[in-house]
Amino acid sequence: MIWAPWLAAIRTSHTLQITDHAMASGLFCVAGKNVLVTGGTRGIGYMIASTFVEHGANVLITSRDPKACEEAASSLLALRRHAPASASSPHVHHVPSNVSTREGCKALASHVRDVFSGRLDVLVNNAGTSWGEDPGYDPDSRESGRMNWGWDKVLDLNVKGLFYLTRECVPMLQRRGEVDDDASSSSSSSSHSHASDPGRIINVGSVTGLMPQDAPTHAYDVSKAAVHHLTKKLASDLAPRGITVNAIAPGYLFTRMSKGLLSTWATTTTKNDIDGSDGGGSKTGRVPIPLGRMGNGDDMGGACIYLSSRAGSWITGVILTVDGGLVGAARIPLSNL
Ligand SMILES: NC(=O)c1ccc[n+]([C@@H]2O[C@H](COP(=O)([O-])OP(=O)(O)OC[C@H]3O[C@@H](n4cnc5c(N)ncnc54)[C@H](OP(=O)(O)O)[C@@H]3O)[C@@H](O)[C@H]2O)c1
Repeated sequence: MIWAPWLAAIRTSHTLQITDHAMASGLFCVAGKNVLVTGGTRGIGYMIASTFVEHGANVLITSRDPKACEEAASSLLALRRHAPASASSPHVHHVPSNVSTREGCKALASHVRDVFSGRLDVLVNNAGTSWGEDPGYDPDSRESGRMNWGWDKVLDLNVKGLFYLTRECVPMLQRRGEVDDDASSSSSSSSHSHASDPGRIINVGSVTGLMPQDAPTHAYDVSKAAVHHLTKKLASDLAPRGITVNAIAPGYLFTRMSKGLLSTWATTTTKNDIDGSDGGGSKTGRVPIPLGRMGNGDDMGGACIYLSSRAGSWITGVILTVDGGLVGAARIPLSNL
């Protein structure tokens, strides 16, 4: 390819113009929105919460550990300096909660109501847990109480908690009644709300909900498939209330959860196999990430900003893979057939 500096210059100035225009017109603006991020104290939840704070949104984070909540909130406060100058300084709140129980979800929703005076703009259902059978497990123990405990723990948080919290938050997210002038004068006879800025629910699913991973994480993979299906079901239920419901399906990121999984289960998988940094993972025959790296905070936060801003206001029921092409750019290796 011929290197043309003038072409690069045009591209750069064009990109700047687009970015300036997008920011000025508020296409990707989330400043001033009230956002709840469950599991916002570390890992992907913290990455998402950081991005919202840096873009001027008010954020409430939660997890079970009060000290972790406090520490994460004070780190988030320090990020407020990155918020757009035009936005008023974002607020950061924290509260401990257990969103794997109905009572925990109810208590959290009541706190959200108080903190945000009854108006929530974005609910990010991120808190999740994984669990796998011990590598040296006794197959005869598969019906044991411990196994059921694993399934219960994963489904209680990843699926049931997500559903209960969503239900509690719907009254704060719904935009019924905020009907656009354009929409009210249109010929459509639909009784749906056509709010231009709907409430948003973003569920954190996983690529493992789209294709099972090579690890004994049966409950986890199933739970994420359920999250994706629930996303579509809720999108249909809640569209008439002016709420969009989408999921992001992350690929692999280094967090406490993935560290446990990768070190315990994928014992034959090296870091290079996963992120493709060995030039394609061909040495082991494992599938590398097509875009050649693990995910990061920009990837997670960027997808959530898109789905929460005006740019994403006409998107609902979508499972957005954010995975470096792991699912979308995969191909079947015919040579192995
Ligand atoms: N890491 C990856 O590669 C990856 C890939 C795809 C999808 N995901 C998904 O991304 C989400 C976040 O994962 P992560 O990797 O960031 O995990 P993580 O580092 O283990 O963080 C999980 C967060 O959830 C909180 N949490 C756990 N149980 C909770 C409960 N019962 N109530 C309230 N909060 C609870 C944790 O805090 P406490 O322990 O203090 O409660 C923590 O803040 C999960 O849904 C996960 O399935 C992760």
